[in-house]
Amino acid sequence: MIILDGKKTSNDIKDEITDEVNSIISKGDRPPHLAAVIVGNDGASLTYVGSKVRACEKVGFDSTLVSLEDSISEEELLDKVYELNNDKKIDGYIVQLPLPKHIDTQKVLLAVDPKKDVDGFHPVNFGRMALNLPTFISATPNGIMELLKRYKVPTEGKNTIVIGRSDIVGKPVSILMGLKTNPGNSTVTLAHSRTKNIEDLIKQADIVISALGVPDFIKEHMIKEGATVIDVGITRVEDDSEKGYKIVGDVDYENVSKKSSFITPVPGGVGPMTIAMLLKNTLQAYKN
Ligand code: GUN
Repeated sequence: MIILDGKKTSNDIKDEITDEVNSIISKGDRPPHLAAVIVGNDGASLTYVGSKVRACEKVGFDSTLVSLEDSISEEELLDKVYELNNDKKIDGYIVQLPLPKHIDTQKVLLAVDPKKDVDGFHPVNFGRMALNLPTFISATPNGIMELLKRYKVPTEGKNTIVIGRSDIVGKPVSILMGLKTNPGNSTVTLAHSRTKNIEDLIKQADIVISALGVPDFIKEHMIKEGATVIDVGITRVEDDSEKGYKIVGDVDYENVSKKSSFITPVPGGVGPMTIAMLLKNTLQAYKN
């Protein structure tokens, strides 16, 4: 069994980015600049955005955090988006999701200039991804593909099951795994809440990508001997630690790992890759 070490791989990627930034700065140019918009004060979102901003500083990027009140109107948020679209000093930005219920998320994502959409959430970028054209691919699905690539996990002709059809993870990664690419070229099943006989489908899969958010959903008896298991679950579970919670994945790691050929841990698997790929997209936006 080989652990797909997202922490190490993301540090390798960050080192590669730092080298590029140093060479940019040594030529007298300004560094890449990422902005992050956060609306409200949801604990998990604040943690994620904080990690993104700290990661920018670590690789030598400029970063701007735009914190907005929960009560902001849709119109005011759209004005902020237009401002960022027109700010020549900002190469790329993200609007952290979820947004408060009174704001139409799709309307906001549509307003983001696709050239600055380093999250890859704009329909133009999502469409370009599906057509295998140069674009910004969303960080989490791209992080999964990068782990498969760097660890040379065989995917061609394999049966892949993606569990969960979210716009951010399940849907895009199901498309990427089916593209005529390496990694990719696999036969993909996209399972969701209406899927029948899900255990039978998981059992037939060579690659299981679980993006469900249900702790311990994937059990040892469900998977095929030698399967590759990618755990995208990040659920906060209360515990006695100082923080008061721990992060757990969808996979019963202790038992499933014994049966798998490659597996991602939680934490330290897909999570850290997400930030590294966001930085990579920001560097690309800067170069574009
Ligand atoms: N919320 C959960 N994941 C993400 C992400 O990758 N980007 C943004 N903007 N919001 C998120």
